[in-house]
Amino acid sequence: MRAVVRESYCDPDALQVCETEMPAPVAGEVLVRVRAAAVDHGTWHTITGLPFAARIVTGLRRPRVPVPGLDFAGEVAAVGAGVTRFRPGDEVFGSSEGALAEYLRAPVDRLAAKPPGISYAQAAAIPVSGCTAVQALRAVSVQRGQSVFVLGAGGGVGTFAVQLASAAGAHVTGVCGPAKAELVRKLGADEVVDYTRGDALGGARRWDAIVDTAGGRPLRRLRRALAPQGTLVIVGAEPAGGSGGGRILQGTQRQLAAMALSPFTRQRLVPLLSKVTPADLESLRAMAADGSLTPVVDRTFPLVEVPAAIRYLRAGHATGKVVVTI
Ligand SMILES: NC(=O)c1ccc[n+]([C@@H]2O[C@H](COP(=O)([O-])OP(=O)(O)OC[C@H]3O[C@@H](n4cnc5c(N)ncnc54)[C@H](OP(=O)(O)O)[C@@H]3O)[C@@H](O)[C@H]2O)c1
Repeated sequence: MRAVVRESYCDPDALQVCETEMPAPVAGEVLVRVRAAAVDHGTWHTITGLPFAARIVTGLRRPRVPVPGLDFAGEVAAVGAGVTRFRPGDEVFGSSEGALAEYLRAPVDRLAAKPPGISYAQAAAIPVSGCTAVQALRAVSVQRGQSVFVLGAGGGVGTFAVQLASAAGAHVTGVCGPAKAELVRKLGADEVVDYTRGDALGGARRWDAIVDTAGGRPLRRLRRALAPQGTLVIVGAEPAGGSGGGRILQGTQRQLAAMALSPFTRQRLVPLLSKVTPADLESLRAMAADGSLTPVVDRTFPLVEVPAAIRYLRAGHATGKVVVTI
């Protein structure tokens, strides 16, 4: 099969498509013919091995898995022993290592049936960003009437967070650049703040919850815009656009500071470490199936253009998700 393969950490521009062995599913796994794979900042971390702290998970000396990529959508090509939930031909989506390839093997608890009304690209856009948004809003116990401020509202995680907070009945303020204002409003934001026209957190207003996917803003500044008993969820560590934050921790200092400070303040400061779970994947699937959630896909790139897809994502201004079609 064709796949993006790399044996060592590298610049994404050095990635190439190679012929490599087809994976074979073991018990409890399925083999998926991948039709679309979304790229996210986590994919960039696994390709570059940055920040160095992330290598504890991705592999200390070299990447643990030669094929990068996580989120995918496609058809089941074969099933391993004991798998009864899926059959060859089923359309599925999910998240498992090795998605930037024609085929991948995935444990059954990492996938769900693809909602029929959406494209493969849209389905591939859901898992990491959708689950992150679900878990961020769970951390703030989002409820009707609550004011929720979403920084990075037009990005991969932000477009899900705005829709989910709005569906929960919150009063949503989305912060984005001018090109995304209309989209963010359509996704359900009651108010849109253009951060290029001044300090988005300026003024005396306070929010019950802030979900920060954009990174970069100091903790004290975010706390000043938060209600005395409000909740701040820090999703993005490094500043959007990837500049600053350092090669070792890359902005995670803010999350560490939030963790250290939270027990000593009435505000809740939550550093999020999201995970794709079967329950959250299933709830996102149901919402996408009944039309109450629309995965937003910005651009699609062919497999040979993975370096360009990652460059585009890392520029920090994607509208929704960047997807590779295979
Ligand atoms: N903690 C976790 O478990 C977890 C999970 C998933 C992702 N993440 C992190 O969360 C962050 C966001 O991920 P993503 O996939 O949503 O990224 P993304 O798709 O690149 O979106 C980032 C958004 O930030 C906006 N932005 C850029 N500069 C901004 C500024 N100064 N103020 C406000 N918004 C600004 C950009 O749009 P415009 O500037 O054009 O409006 C863009 O839409 C990344 O750092 C990622 O690594 C963390």
